[in-house]
Amino acid sequence: RSFLRGTGGAIAALTFAENASAQNNGTIRIGSDIPYRPFEYRTKTGELVGFDVDIANAVFEGQLDRNYEFVQTSFDTIIPSLNNGNFRVIMSAMTITPERSKQVDFSDPYFTAYQTVLILKNSDITSLQDLKGETVAVQKGTTGEAAAQDLKKQFNGDLTIDSYDQIPGAFSALGNNQAAAVINDNTVNAEFAQQNDNVTFLKGEGAAQEQGKENAPPYLTLTVEEYGIAFRKNDDQLKNQVNDALSTIRDNGTYDELYNKYFQT
Ligand code: ARG
Repeated sequence: RSFLRGTGGAIAALTFAENASAQNNGTIRIGSDIPYRPFEYRTKTGELVGFDVDIANAVFEGQLDRNYEFVQTSFDTIIPSLNNGNFRVIMSAMTITPERSKQVDFSDPYFTAYQTVLILKNSDITSLQDLKGETVAVQKGTTGEAAAQDLKKQFNGDLTIDSYDQIPGAFSALGNNQAAAVINDNTVNAEFAQQNDNVTFLKGEGAAQEQGKENAPPYLTLTVEEYGIAFRKNDDQLKNQVNDALSTIRDNGTYDELYNKYFQT
């Protein structure tokens, strides 16, 4: 009997060791809500590209010598999905917030972003105050949605917030006159504006100037934010490796090269 118990123990230990090594050398699954151009989106031929995709490639493959794959997931449920084990990390132009930091750990910041207001060029909205009584479109579960909720409080509730599962839904609402504005990350709004001549940023000074940001964008900013890669709590080994990798690619010029590829100044 004791022999059998011993064998059972040995098998269990071996199985555990195999799992451990498969985890070290296996593919890193990256949860992301696609499309969010220019961070993660598909080309006409279906190829997944974007700043996050290139950073993932430089970090996981380039520095950590690991395979990785992107897994499409709804942004609104991306944190529970990570914590349920559906993927190992989140790379989704995700802003580091105190609320989210209770549920996940973030890497060091890798990108600065601002909440901004996109409007139709022919609209009569010239200031934030003009949005009172109007409808704004946002992506569900985002800091853009949170910024819209703050604005609604300033207006004593006199603002309608339409939350879309994905950002293209919010952009369509603006184009169809179902919303007076889209509140969303600056570089994603900028990319959309570059491709759609009928939209523009609401101008003005805001959070970027208040926080003394150099290179503040030439339009109204509601918040200053930093993106981070998210990990499950207690995934410290991987988090530390990723932080080291991020610092290496900043030092060796890879980060700047990728930055300039997507964000010409
Ligand atoms: N930065 C914003 C946030 O963290 C929006 C991110 C949306 N990302 C995406 N891939 N759809 O809430």
